[in-house]
Amino acid sequence: MTEDTSPAVDLAAAEAEVDLPPIGDRSRYDALMQVMRNRVTVRKFDPDYVVPEEHYEMILEAARHAPSGANAQPWQFIVIRDKETKAQISEYFVAEQRFRAKAKMKFPTPDYRGLATAPGFVVVCSDMRWTNAFPVLNDGSDLDRMYHENAERILLQSVAAATMSAHLAAASLGYTVWWVTAIGQEQAQGAMRPLLGIPDEISVLDIFLFGPPAAAPYKRWRRPPEEIIHRDRYDRSHFMSDEELDEWIKTRRHRVMYKDASKID
Ligand SMILES: Cc1cc2nc3c(=O)[nH]c(=O)nc-3n(C[C@H](O)[C@H](O)[C@H](O)COP(=O)(O)O)c2cc1C
Repeated sequence: MTEDTSPAVDLAAAEAEVDLPPIGDRSRYDALMQVMRNRVTVRKFDPDYVVPEEHYEMILEAARHAPSGANAQPWQFIVIRDKETKAQISEYFVAEQRFRAKAKMKFPTPDYRGLATAPGFVVVCSDMRWTNAFPVLNDGSDLDRMYHENAERILLQSVAAATMSAHLAAASLGYTVWWVTAIGQEQAQGAMRPLLGIPDEISVLDIFLFGPPAAAPYKRWRRPPEEIIHRDRYDRSHFMSDEELDEWIKTRRHRVMYKDASKID
């Protein structure tokens, strides 16, 4: 069999599709930042709002343009419009919430009943077999395991890039959003697969909710630039010891997650 070396696109048309502003032109940056700053999470929505089909198309069109390792585009989106299905998915999360409380995980888990209120509801899936499309040996060796670990990171980053693009598109249309990952555990996946007819090979990576908020949204705390940016070398003054990190988790985590630490969303 001879290898097909022809490009997958019409190159002249592909070049013509790229439309960048002059370097330093702020107009698109400012518009983008306005969307980014105003992408905010809420955990309860107006349940009576109906998302126009066109909005789903616009939002998932943004996801489709995300970058991905090896341009594999290893994402699938299941749009859930049926209220009963939303309620059932919400139940898995509520069960998870109860389990965490019993397991004394100490994580300030939010109220997942809000999932059932989301007008916009998208289950984000991937097929972990796509890791084979990234640099791996596939010979079962230790070296292969190491490369596979990185391939998994490539896949997860790729799907996160698409998810983020969708969230920003939703925010640009005026919606508040909710990114939920608390369903990675095998048990939850096992429960959700038959409900949505998802094959065993497919993993549910996150759920993307959007809609008008039930109550006024609020902006959460952000680290200042000097805490996260390093110049030329890793700045050790940003490094946290194990004790500092433990202390942060104990005393600050709940305060940065929710507006009022005494009242979890
Ligand atoms: C990768 C990722 C996973 C998240 N998982 C959950 C989740 O399982 N449950 C939840 O309530 N929020 C989840 N969130 C939402 C974050 O808690 C939220 O984005 C963060 O507190 C910052 O708030 P903001 O989105 O309003 O800026 C997740 C966000 C990201 C990016």
